Amino acid sequence: MRKMLIAGNWKMNLDREHATQLTSSILESSGDSGPDIVLCPPYLLIPPVLEIVRDSRIQVGAQNLFWEKKGAYTGEISASMILNAGCTHVIIGHSERRQIFGETDISVQRKTAAALEAGLIPIVCVGETLEEREEGRTEIVIERQISGGLERIPQEILGDIIIAYEPVWAIGTGQTATPETAQEVHKQIRSWLKDTYSKSLAEDVRILYGGSVKGENAAELFGQDDIDGGLVGGASLDAEGFAQIIAAAR
Ligand code: PGA
Repeated sequence: MRKMLIAGNWKMNLDREHATQLTSSILESSGDSGPDIVLCPPYLLIPPVLEIVRDSRIQVGAQNLFWEKKGAYTGEISASMILNAGCTHVIIGHSERRQIFGETDISVQRKTAAALEAGLIPIVCVGETLEEREEGRTEIVIERQISGGLERIPQEILGDIIIAYEPVWAIGTGQTATPETAQEVHKQIRSWLKDTYSKSLAEDVRILYGGSVKGENAAELFGQDDIDGGLVGGASLDAEGFAQIIAAAR
């Protein structure tokens, strides 16, 4: 049985004061059981957030990394630095990074490999644009992103990898994929994992849905067979809304 996971992607939002308030509220409402919870603040807010969730079941992740171990890479952060700061997870290949910062399947592959080698759990994001969906290319695009992103990574270290299906047209738009539409893509991803690796790996890997997840639509999305939780942007910045999403995943 796969355990549900709710990850909050704070993106480039919040200052220290609001981040600590939000984290404390989430900690208070999260209780002792329920889905796994991962908060992904901007790098600079990782230490204060970790301070609050220490000894709790809430884990913390970064939103990006650079694949080199160290050196002259101004402005970048390595996997081992993220791990050393106390994080367990890292988001890789978010569509905003692909679209705004020019990330490709190749950079996603390098980052995913670096995360796994360092002992971080990568949350690898894939998703088609509206144009790609309208042209009927969703399946091809998702398969290209996943096979490219995981290429040459040995199955033995794929371990706890998490995949997030985030249709680009649903991110921050308020337009959620219907549970059926999301389920269809999640199922395709799982069957690709089965054909490429093994049935047991396909059954173990958690596939999150992301794109305008809210308290009101979460339960129906999470009720689908192949949806194992959510990667939540906007609604993760609101303690009450995020608590509703967590409750929907119980
Ligand atoms: P959203 O963002 O929930 O605000 O649509 C999701 C994401 O980008 O991870």
